[in-house]
Amino acid sequence: MPKANRPLFITFEGVEGSGKTSRMGAAARYLESRGHRPRLTREPGGTAIGARIRAILLSPDSGGIDETAELLLYMADRAQHVNTVIRPALAAGETVLCDRYFDATVAYQGHARGLDIRRIRDFHRVALDNFMPDLTLLLDLDPAVGLSRALADAGRPADESRFEHEALAFHNLVRAGYLALADEAPERFAVIDAAQPPEAVEERIVAALTERLNRLAQAIRHG
Ligand code: TMP
Repeated sequence: MPKANRPLFITFEGVEGSGKTSRMGAAARYLESRGHRPRLTREPGGTAIGARIRAILLSPDSGGIDETAELLLYMADRAQHVNTVIRPALAAGETVLCDRYFDATVAYQGHARGLDIRRIRDFHRVALDNFMPDLTLLLDLDPAVGLSRALADAGRPADESRFEHEALAFHNLVRAGYLALADEAPERFAVIDAAQPPEAVEERIVAALTERLNRLAQAIRHG
């Protein structure tokens, strides 16, 4: 018998500096109060092997990376993460909160970098059977604001700044890509205005989670 608090796979997406990493704690606390066991993780770098892949991907020294090689490194990181962390956690009853996932690949490598999105989706289907989240929270923000926040963040390691050095036009394409994805799958996405103060953003996140959990409980009752 499925339960209303069955483990969920929830992802957080947004442009640089949208605050998703900082807001995940509030989401985890709320889910815990609703009977979930949250497990926080991220991409790239949610595993020991992924941390090594992340270092290659984000280092400013990797400027010469081929676009397809970049795509496949994100996919490799994800395969390791899904198969050794996400699926086992869900099977053990944990609700997984993941900082970025496949939508980031479509937005960054597809919409912004210009790789063929159909091909990106084919790779995901072949590698991971198109494994997708139950819910995606998109923290939407003007990249000009996000980048100035990200560059002012003293805790941000300098050796992870490759994407922050991309032109603003690139980040505008990322944002537009995310919004297009949200339009295509409104039942999976909740778009949250991340320009508001942190407390207001957290309130909106809790409201989106409540709405999805209630909808899920209803589907189970009627299903
Ligand atoms: P983070 O700073 O949110 O940890 O993300 C790392 C960077 O990697 C960020 O600039 C977005 C980028 N990225 C992609 O380009 N494609 C992907 O599939 C993922 C997961 C992240």
